[in-house]
Amino acid sequence: MTEASDLEPKPEPGHRYPELSEAKSLTAIREAAAHCQACDLWKNATQTVFGEGRRDAKVMFVGEQPGDKEDLAGKPFVGPAGQLLDEALAAAGIDRATVYVTNAVKHFKWRPAGKRRLHEKPNRSEIAACKLWLEAEIRLLRPQVVVCLGATAAQALISPTFRVTKERGKLIPSALAPHLIATVHPSSILRAPDDEARTEEMRLFVADLKKVAGVIRRLE
Ligand code: URA
Repeated sequence: MTEASDLEPKPEPGHRYPELSEAKSLTAIREAAAHCQACDLWKNATQTVFGEGRRDAKVMFVGEQPGDKEDLAGKPFVGPAGQLLDEALAAAGIDRATVYVTNAVKHFKWRPAGKRRLHEKPNRSEIAACKLWLEAEIRLLRPQVVVCLGATAAQALISPTFRVTKERGKLIPSALAPHLIATVHPSSILRAPDDEARTEEMRLFVADLKKVAGVIRRLE
């Protein structure tokens, strides 16, 4: 559904960060992103959660946005979804210490529910406003494989109409990287209705990640 904020004219985000196209280091980009106000999400977030991992990583995983734990820690995928991702990576034979992990949106979007902060999905204009950081990360890291975790990342990097449920696990031609693949977001597995569904969803997720592991092996 189109949200009112999607319809508001927004300044081109890149105009606020002209130095980005020249930036030669991830540290420079990370420092610039720490002050990002390209959309309003910074107002309620603790901090920008920039990507993390090896500078020479062959694989970049792109999630949706930091959650509650990530917002507080300032690191991506350190909460429950991150633990599930770690488990699935290990089962697929991928060492998290060798990859780079980031998000399509770098501030936590949430609404209050009593004392809790409940995750809210970023809208199209927030995803678009944040894309300059993701593109800068890709430009500097030049990963061989980009893995979109869930619809938000896939819609940011592949197409707004991309359907992860239909196209998961397929290699998709892209100018961004030699190999691009989309799979589900680990949070969707945490939300499975029962143990049986969770086990099956995890099996499918690991199968997708094994395809990524296969691509990495062929590169070595
Ligand atoms: N979900 C995401 O998409 N990213 C994180 O960093 C944590 C949870």
